Amino acid sequence: MKKFLLFCYAVATLQGFSGCSPSQPKEDYGWLKNAIDTSVQQLEETVADVGDSVLLPRSIWTGYDMDFLCSQLQREPVTFKDSLRMKPVKDALGSRRYCSSIYDWTSGFFPGELWYMYEYTKDDFWKEKARKQTELLEQEKWNGSTHDMGFKMYCSYGNGYRLTQDSGYKDILLQSAYTLIRRYNPKVGCIRSWDHNRDKWQYPVIIDNMMNLELLFWAFRTNGDSIFYQVAVDHARTTMKNHFRKDYSSYHVIDYDTLTGAVLHKNTHQGYSDASAWSRGQAWGLYGYTMCYRETGLPEFLERAKQIASYIFSNPTLPDDLIPYWDYNAPGIPDEPRDVSAATVTASALYELSMYDETNRTGYVDRADRILENLTNRYRASVGKDCGFLLLHSTGSKTHGSEVDVPIVYADYYYLEALLRKAKLEKEGTALL
Ligand code: GLY
Repeated sequence: MKKFLLFCYAVATLQGFSGCSPSQPKEDYGWLKNAIDTSVQQLEETVADVGDSVLLPRSIWTGYDMDFLCSQLQREPVTFKDSLRMKPVKDALGSRRYCSSIYDWTSGFFPGELWYMYEYTKDDFWKEKARKQTELLEQEKWNGSTHDMGFKMYCSYGNGYRLTQDSGYKDILLQSAYTLIRRYNPKVGCIRSWDHNRDKWQYPVIIDNMMNLELLFWAFRTNGDSIFYQVAVDHARTTMKNHFRKDYSSYHVIDYDTLTGAVLHKNTHQGYSDASAWSRGQAWGLYGYTMCYRETGLPEFLERAKQIASYIFSNPTLPDDLIPYWDYNAPGIPDEPRDVSAATVTASALYELSMYDETNRTGYVDRADRILENLTNRYRASVGKDCGFLLLHSTGSKTHGSEVDVPIVYADYYYLEALLRKAKLEKEGTALL
């Protein structure tokens, strides 16, 4: 019965934004209705499996790729050891992989998806599920050993606060923001990303870190403490200066000297090579600078977002369906895995970017629509299968042989976000949720 009611709600809402008057047929949004119906059903299955446990879904276990392991043997022993880290047992293969703990950088995405389900259905069933999974993460507000605070806390508590105005959530988010800025070094002008690989990098900053700035901008808007704004803008400007190449593709990792602020290394970690353009990194940059423009109104950030979009969509290796390979310079294209997560982050960012650039508005919306439509028609998980995930064919880290060509929770999170943004753009003229 619940399923049926949700289905009816989905249909009614979609009719609402697709122009419900039969005399005014606008566009055929059948794919969008389909996408949301399927997502509701898949997530129902996942929450039923998770039950009252503290489990947070992440992806699907795959085995080791022997060719990959053999190639790793040619490299230094520590890299090879790293490749064996996850050790899936035989019985686990093909089953749902959960976050190893709340410390996992992906722990906020599943709670975030549940908030999006609540936002879409307005059904308290989802609200209760979202609350429960979100509140598992509270202790992370003290965790100063990671830059992933925004991913974890803003996707979970951030959406929860937006939808419920729960003041307890506000306090948790503010504490999270204060904990995050402890990782900022004014000499470098950035928040430090990782603490691992200390023998290789002194002060690594990765392009992904642009995403964590949203929590800081929210904190500034919420309690008025200008330190949040200053840190976020400084980080975005330093990244703009050092992370980008002439063609506006970005490096993955920039390593800084903590005493002088000088750039020491320009590397990759998850991309094909130091000189290549790792696809999800380009998507994080696009989303990050679009969001920075929303929060600051500074034209330099809008300009950078447009330049990144231009790099992505003029790239000769981008397939016709607009779902990129895992790296724009992967050597075996077209026989390389795609990264659906890069596509969902890009689609979500484009809906927002379309609001800020009149000239390219239609082009951005058309591309985002094409991405979502193609994902829905050709990359979707099967209802009742695929461990309750929404989309197939994401790539976590091909370089480490980890989560290659599988469903991954952050692809699903940004897919839902993009679908909701699309719905809101059509209905209310804004993509902002
Ligand atoms: N932030 C980690 C990743 O994108 O894989």
